[in-house]
Amino acid sequence: MRSAVRTSTPPPSAPPLDVDRIRAQFPLLAREVAGRRIVYLDSAATTQKPQSVIEAVCDFYRHHNSNVHRGVHRLSHEATEAYEGAREKAKAFLGAADPAECIFVRGATEGINLVAQAFARPRLGPGDEILVTVMEHHSNIVPWQLACEQTGATLRAAPIDDDGALIWDEFEKLLSERTRIVAVVHASNALGTVNPVKRIVEAGHGVGAVVLLDGAQVAAHLPIDLPDLGCDFYTVSGHKMFGPTGIGVLWGKREHLESMPPWMGGGDMIERVSFEGTTYADLPGKFEAGTPNIAGAVGLGAAIDFLADTGVERIAAYEHELLEYGTGRLSAVEGLRLVGTAPEKSAVLSFVLDGVHPHDIGTILDHEGIAVRTGHHCAQPVMDRFGLPATVRASLSVYNTREDLDALAGGIEEVRRLFR
Ligand code: ALA
Repeated sequence: MRSAVRTSTPPPSAPPLDVDRIRAQFPLLAREVAGRRIVYLDSAATTQKPQSVIEAVCDFYRHHNSNVHRGVHRLSHEATEAYEGAREKAKAFLGAADPAECIFVRGATEGINLVAQAFARPRLGPGDEILVTVMEHHSNIVPWQLACEQTGATLRAAPIDDDGALIWDEFEKLLSERTRIVAVVHASNALGTVNPVKRIVEAGHGVGAVVLLDGAQVAAHLPIDLPDLGCDFYTVSGHKMFGPTGIGVLWGKREHLESMPPWMGGGDMIERVSFEGTTYADLPGKFEAGTPNIAGAVGLGAAIDFLADTGVERIAAYEHELLEYGTGRLSAVEGLRLVGTAPEKSAVLSFVLDGVHPHDIGTILDHEGIAVRTGHHCAQPVMDRFGLPATVRASLSVYNTREDLDALAGGIEEVRRLFR
C-alpha cells in the first residue's frame, strides 16, 4: 500500500533533501504578507511554482508560440514537439505504457467528467451502481450524480470511520455484480487519508467493475506507478503538482479509451469531416478537441522534471517527517481537534478549535502571514460525516519547514488568546 506515512527513506546514495535549495527555487515564497515572510500552508488547494516552470511557460510564449499539429512552419513544429514532449514526460511520470493513453485535460475534475460522460454514460442503466467513498472531493461525486441522472444508475458511497479511514468491510459489502464503476480518491484533500488503492482496485475488478483513481492530491507527494496500481483510469491536476492551472492528465487503459466515443467535438479530434459523416482521430487526439493548453502542458512537463530531479520518494519521506512534527505541535494545542487521523496519511492537517469558527482562525492566521484554507474543502459529505460545517486545513509541500509549523502553532495560540 502506498502512503506518505510509510517509513520509506531515500536510497543511501541519494543526498538528503535540501529544503533551503528547494525553497530558493520558488520565487513566491520570498514574498511578504502582513509584513512577514509568507507561510504558505495551502498546497492542497494549489502548489506554488518553481522558477523552472515559470520560465518554461514564458520561454514557450517568447520563443516558440504557435498552434500544434496544424502547421508546416518551424514554430508549429516546435510547439508540437514541446506539447508532445510533455505528454512523454507525463507517461514516464505515471509509469504508463503509451503516451497515447495520456489525455491532456484541464485537471482532475475534467478527467473524471470525461470518464463519467464518455465511458460510464453509454454503458449504464437502471440497476447499475457506481461506488465512491464518503471522503470524495465534489469532483468525484457530482460527475457520477450527473451520469446517474442521465442513465438511471445508482450512486453508492462507502462510509469512513472516526479517523477518516475507509471502513473496508462496509466498502466490500457495497461491492456487488451491480457495481459497474468504482471511483475513489487516492488521497483525501480534506482529511489526508491515503486509501488502500491497490486493494480497492483488486476488489473492484473482482466484481467486474472498472476502477478510476483520483490522484490529484498524490502527484506531488507520493510515487505513482500505474502498472503496480492496476487501475483502469487515473487522473491528476497540473496545478497541484507544481505546474500551471488549467492542465492535467487523464490516463486510461487503451482498450477503454478506444471503446469510448469522443466527449467534445471540434478541431484536432477528427480524421475526416463531412456532412455525410465524420470519423475521429486516433488516441489521444480523439479526446483533445480544439486548441489545447499548449503552454500549460509545457509547464506541466517542467513540473514533472522538477519532481523527477527532486525525487518523489525523497519528497514523501520529507513530508512524512513534517507531518509527524506538525501533528505533534498541533495536538499539544489546548482545545484543538485534528480531523483526519487515519494511520495512512498524506501531509494534510485539518482541525477545529473549541469555540472559534474556522473562518475566524483563517482570518487571524492571515494577519500573521499564514495561508491556510478554511471551509468544507469541496468535500461537504466529509464535513457532514464529522458533524462540522468547516475545518481549518494546513496542507504541506516539499518547500515547507518545521519553522512554518511552529508559526502555525504560534498563530493558533494567538487565536486562543484572542477568544479567551
Ligand atoms: N481541491 C482543492 C482543495 O482541496 C481546491 O483545496
